[in-house]
Amino acid sequence: MKTLNVLALAFAGLIGLSFMTSCGGGASDQKSDTTQVSQAAPAGAVPAEQMELGKGIYEAKCKVCHQPTGLGLKPAFPPLAGSDYLLADKKRAVVQALNGSNHEIVVNGEKYNTPMPQQVGTIDSAVAVINYVLNSFGNNGGVITLDEVKDVVIDPRK
Ligand code: HEC
Repeated sequence: MKTLNVLALAFAGLIGLSFMTSCGGGASDQKSDTTQVSQAAPAGAVPAEQMELGKGIYEAKCKVCHQPTGLGLKPAFPPLAGSDYLLADKKRAVVQALNGSNHEIVVNGEKYNTPMPQQVGTIDSAVAVINYVLNSFGNNGGVITLDEVKDVVIDPRK
């Protein structure tokens, strides 16, 4: 019963809050909109629209090599599912989607050395697809923000 009372109080408080903000006129209406968006996406989660964008890019560009399962295809294409290499450095992964990679790498103890061509043309797309792979195929790899990669330079297209 006690918990119920506390819950009811908290709920009443919430209603009070939204009532107050909704009476604040145009500018604060907008403000309460943004608050709602950030509440919908809990801290540390990839925004739904970015996951959606990332999924589209994965299906169009990455799937042929890294496979629909993210498991890759030995010995040419390394896995993204459970990849220690991917999970160790999110920024490197964004750079990789933008600029490709052409050197020996070790993923989960296996060597790979096939070139990966450049894939996406904008940092936004690279961040979206990497956030998608960080949080798909059983990965629980966290989030990289645009801010963390704003200094990344896109190589000229070859
Ligand atoms: C043409 C095949 C191909 C495509 C398409 C491709 N990759 Fe790769 N990917 C590779 C290869 C090959 C490597 C290993 C590169 C090396 O050895 O330098 C790799 C490595 C990686 C790695 C680091 C290694 C790992 O397994 O964690 C990441 C991350 C990655 N790719 C992400 C992507 C993403 C995201 C896309 C789509 C935007 C993509 N790749 C598209 C072939 C591909």
